[in-house]
Amino acid sequence: MTERTTVAIVGAGPAGLLLGHILAAGGVPFVIVENRSREHVLSRIRAGVLEQSSVDVLDRFGLAERLHAEGLVHGGIHLQVEGRRFHVDFEHLVGRTVTVYGQQQVVLDLMRRHDELGSPVYYGASEVTPADVDGEDPHLRFGIDGEQHDLAARFVVGADGYHGVCRTVIPADVLQPAERAYDCAWLGVLADVAPSTEEIIYALHPDGFAMHSMRSPSVSRLYLQVDPGVDLADWSDERIWTALQERLGSPGWTLTPGPITEKSITPMRSSVARTLAYGRLFLAGDAGHIVPPTGAKGLNAALADVTLLGDALVAAAAGSESALASYSARALARQWKIQYFSQWMTDMLHIPGPSAPPEERDFRYRSRVGQLDFVTTSRFAQQTLAEQYTGLAIA
Ligand code: PHB
Repeated sequence: MTERTTVAIVGAGPAGLLLGHILAAGGVPFVIVENRSREHVLSRIRAGVLEQSSVDVLDRFGLAERLHAEGLVHGGIHLQVEGRRFHVDFEHLVGRTVTVYGQQQVVLDLMRRHDELGSPVYYGASEVTPADVDGEDPHLRFGIDGEQHDLAARFVVGADGYHGVCRTVIPADVLQPAERAYDCAWLGVLADVAPSTEEIIYALHPDGFAMHSMRSPSVSRLYLQVDPGVDLADWSDERIWTALQERLGSPGWTLTPGPITEKSITPMRSSVARTLAYGRLFLAGDAGHIVPPTGAKGLNAALADVTLLGDALVAAAAGSESALASYSARALARQWKIQYFSQWMTDMLHIPGPSAPPEERDFRYRSRVGQLDFVTTSRFAQQTLAEQYTGLAIA
């Protein structure tokens, strides 16, 4: 089957789905192609904090109705060190907030609206293959239920993640990602229990980092720093709750445990491609860059990319390609600020794992205590944190 569209989007995660809505609002034809099933896309448990800038963009396209009804508006976060818990009040510091609303919920809202619009979204596509993206005749080839599709497009967008196919069609000497590995990972759990905190707690403890987040008034999301190679089988529910209570403990406060419904390991890596544009192919979100999860920037960065790219593609479809020509540079300039912030948060809140020399762990721990003591007593430091955490402008 041969089809033609203006923008072929690879990936139906939050980036690809939002891009579809921006194009739909601008009257630009598009097709979204996803290799996973719709159920799989909806079942992926990911981040849960939306910057004010992300909420604003979802509002701009009328996609935030349920988010406003069910999302939890947080006016700040807690930073904890040596059992002392400190509230960083974003509203007071910068007049902005964040909204706790699971990525899965964002994806569901975006999918439902595409259903209402009758948007062309293919799930379960096999062998998705971008072709001639640096030539005159860009195409996307893929199979659906055994039928071969050949989709010709003016532009191809790779919103298919760090392990997606789109970044692999860019020659290695052009993509050339700048990378940093971290010597730790996160063990994340989802639990059917009311959160023991109203706002997110980020804690540094001599055993490592721990965090208490949430998804709703009855679902908690918690994380523990672990060594990258750990086996989930070694982490029983009981061991997890004990470690969480130990690391998150603060005088007069207890963590309420509950049934754990999901357990997973989140790797920590930073990677930024040298370019997000190659011929007629444009990368957005994790396909172009990833951050360690501390600070919850991955989803927000993806939404920011497609906001820039969507506006640029709408202008390009109307005949003006200048915004598209500068997309990669503008998105990467914003991305490097996010990389800096994510690295800063990660370094402040983690120490080397148990396999590191004790002297090194001790020095790193003590210097992090100093850093957290500084941040929690300096208004300027807190304002800096608040400005970045609630989201940089998307311009
Ligand atoms: C989450 O709720 O999954 C979450 C929250 C804050 C972070 C990272 C993850 O910094």
